[in-house]
Amino acid sequence: MMIPLTDITDQPLLPPMQSWYHVTTSRQLKKGQITTATICNKEVVVYRTESGNVRAIDPHCPHLGAHFGHGGKIKGENIECPFHAWTFNDEGKLIDVPYSDTTPTSTRACLTQWHVREKHGLILVWFHPKGLEPSFEPDLPQDLIEGNWSKHTENTYQIEGYVQELVENLIDVGHFPKIHQYDKLPEVKEASVKDHIFRAHIHTVANRLRFFEIETSFIAEFVGCGFSAARVRIGKHWQLLVIAGSTPKRTGEVHTTFTIRYLKTGNWFHDMISRYLTRFFEDDFLNDVNIWANKTYVENPLLSKDDGPIHKVRKWAKNLEQSDRQQAA
Ligand code: FES
Ligand SMILES: [Fe+2]
Repeated sequence: MMIPLTDITDQPLLPPMQSWYHVTTSRQLKKGQITTATICNKEVVVYRTESGNVRAIDPHCPHLGAHFGHGGKIKGENIECPFHAWTFNDEGKLIDVPYSDTTPTSTRACLTQWHVREKHGLILVWFHPKGLEPSFEPDLPQDLIEGNWSKHTENTYQIEGYVQELVENLIDVGHFPKIHQYDKLPEVKEASVKDHIFRAHIHTVANRLRFFEIETSFIAEFVGCGFSAARVRIGKHWQLLVIAGSTPKRTGEVHTTFTIRYLKTGNWFHDMISRYLTRFFEDDFLNDVNIWANKTYVENPLLSKDDGPIHKVRKWAKNLEQSDRQQAA
């Protein structure tokens, strides 16, 4: 029998799709700082003005093409180019050519600004493959985010794969016993789609913490493929809020940031356990990252009846991608 040869570089090319994608975190972008991020092979320069406003722009200067992310400077609310020091205000408009007494006023004397939002510690920009305006806002549902939360921890990972695979991971209940050592298969109580939103509720009673049987539930909402909140209830007493951003940098490469908060009670013992649980979930995610580092994307996976509604996530992601094309037509 002939065995077909598989090219190890042969990752399928999934098209990029519209979403709010995080570019950095609020903590990492201080007043006066500039950073550069990549989304679907496109660079975007993000900066915070001295008053605290965040702006996102195309990286190259319309004068002679210098890159604002390499030596640009924030001057108050303005950004100065590193090459000839032309200065642009926070609406992107050219306001000063320092060695000339006139300033070009054509429509080209303006930086291209991206839509930017700062939400729950993440800085998000709107990306559409055809450059269209936002079709939704990155608003997380009140029932998941309300509460008296601690300050968050944040961790960023470079992951091999596609953004929708991080959505899939939650309802891929079959990997919980092997990767996360759950001794019972979680039950999918909800996996619903509404336009750009995918919501899931996973529930299990398992000896997950190796001390005693404990009920754990995850209710998560993904607002597009790039931004999500998950409220995790562990037993009767502990709750965590995981707000995450996942950004496709290049084909098959995702930049993910997880922020975790715990519900505060003011009781030191309770909060100490909550901090332990926070670290526990951070470490647990590394087990997924290690698998993703070497897996491939199987477009038409062979599934068992107990695998969870993986096709539902794929259909939702495909619809988002196809609605991009319809909007652009
Ligand atoms: S290239 Fe930016 S000021 Fe000249
Ligand atoms: Fe996982």
